[in-house]
Amino acid sequence: MKKADILIIGSGIAGLFFAIKMAKKRPDLFIAIMTKEKVQNSNTQMAQGGIAVVTDHIEDSFEQHIQDTIQSGGGFCDEEIVRMVINQAPERLKELIDIGVSFDKDKSGTWNLGLEGGHSQHRILHHKDISGEEIGKKLIETINQLSNITLFENHLVIDINTKKNKGNPSCTGAFYCDKVNSQIKYIQAKTIVLSTGGCGQLFKNTTNPEIATGDGIAIASRAGALIKDIQYIQFHPTALYEGDKNPFFLVSEAVRGFGAHIINEDKKRFIFKHDTRGELATRDIVSQAISEEMETSGKQHVYLDCRHLDFEEFYTHFPFITNYCQTIGLNPKTDLIPIVPVAHYQCGGINVNKNSETNIKNLYAIGECSRTGLHGKNRLASNSLLEALVFAHQASNHIENSIDDVSFSSKKIMADFSEPLINLYSDNFVELKKELQALMTVLYANKEVDFRKILDKMESMKMKTVSLLFEKQKITTQLVEFTNMLTVAKIVVESNMQQFFEKSPSY
Ligand code: SIN
Repeated sequence: MKKADILIIGSGIAGLFFAIKMAKKRPDLFIAIMTKEKVQNSNTQMAQGGIAVVTDHIEDSFEQHIQDTIQSGGGFCDEEIVRMVINQAPERLKELIDIGVSFDKDKSGTWNLGLEGGHSQHRILHHKDISGEEIGKKLIETINQLSNITLFENHLVIDINTKKNKGNPSCTGAFYCDKVNSQIKYIQAKTIVLSTGGCGQLFKNTTNPEIATGDGIAIASRAGALIKDIQYIQFHPTALYEGDKNPFFLVSEAVRGFGAHIINEDKKRFIFKHDTRGELATRDIVSQAISEEMETSGKQHVYLDCRHLDFEEFYTHFPFITNYCQTIGLNPKTDLIPIVPVAHYQCGGINVNKNSETNIKNLYAIGECSRTGLHGKNRLASNSLLEALVFAHQASNHIENSIDDVSFSSKKIMADFSEPLINLYSDNFVELKKELQALMTVLYANKEVDFRKILDKMESMKMKTVSLLFEKQKITTQLVEFTNMLTVAKIVVESNMQQFFEKSPSY
């Protein structure tokens, strides 16, 4: 049976940055990272925009970034957390730069700061339009140099194990599937850190990769962790429309910050009718405005217009986006880019305090799977990578000082299961997943929603999943991921339902 002082689940920016900080603080600890596919396969790697940090204290200030964040969050942010994150941002940024992450500079040597929706100032540090790839690459290189970190790829964590501790549960280890030899096994851990990302795959139209199946939230909720604000799913206004596709290609918000316009079928700008900031309003406002426009026109998309912009400069800033558009026959210099709002980010998640602790002892959550209070009901653009860094730092400080009081659990666990995990029945799960995505799309479609009916349908999908399990007597990757999706979807529906009835008590 494996044993780790610290088990990190997931390999996005939060998990990797935490691992590095922890490994440097405590070289005596054995740190394991389990990730269900290759380490590069994370949402972080796809991030285009960058990191919002105040670096220019003449035009900008921490206070302006704080106010922008709070305004974007629609009154649902935790101000103490917002202040902590934004004040810490320069130190965390320096740590990224110290491990070799490069951010674009102007010819004069000053940061080339991008502008994005909801920001009153240019303050986004970025690496062209592939910021996530650059950050991920440098984090992975650093991880590979640290001898007390072991990275287990193709290790799918199924559930964590807890024990009752004077009434309070504490986590003691995790069941996982080693996908290479198809075995289900157990690892003992003193501390577990969930950094599993979001749940965008609950929706057919999403920017999130196929791995974004809400695993950490499902695992945490089954273990009794509190999930909060999960109904606040953020839709990104400018995903490239290419018909039926999953995931959608993202056209960064930074493109609007660079001056692109959003226009309708009549080639007219229309966002100003909804907000005086126009295209630079926050995502919730821009997405809603586009959805209404599409409803009126009966079309599947609106357009992003970049034709008036300096194309050479555009290409310098957005080579990845330009190249992708060209592969499908679109040239941003001469063509309108069809765009549509799609699910992009989960603003809520596993509830944590300022040290990233959940309500289960020794269980922490960081990054998109967590709910810290920073985002409220609508995350400010490019605040998510920042949140991941700050809460990874907070967790590492807390664990550094507390882990010596934790011992491995003496409870006996059936160590290894002899039954191999086999990737069978994919067709069943492809169909079930489509059915679930269709239900979730209805839930967020601005129409009257019959919550009971949605929950009943989910219950019947659960029964189908259980019968597939009984029939075949095998646990499969698809089964684990789909079960997690169902678990999270149900929580999302219930959170929406609770919010709806709180708003309309007489309904
Ligand atoms: C984008 O580049 O538009 C995405 C960045 C983010 O989600 O904050």
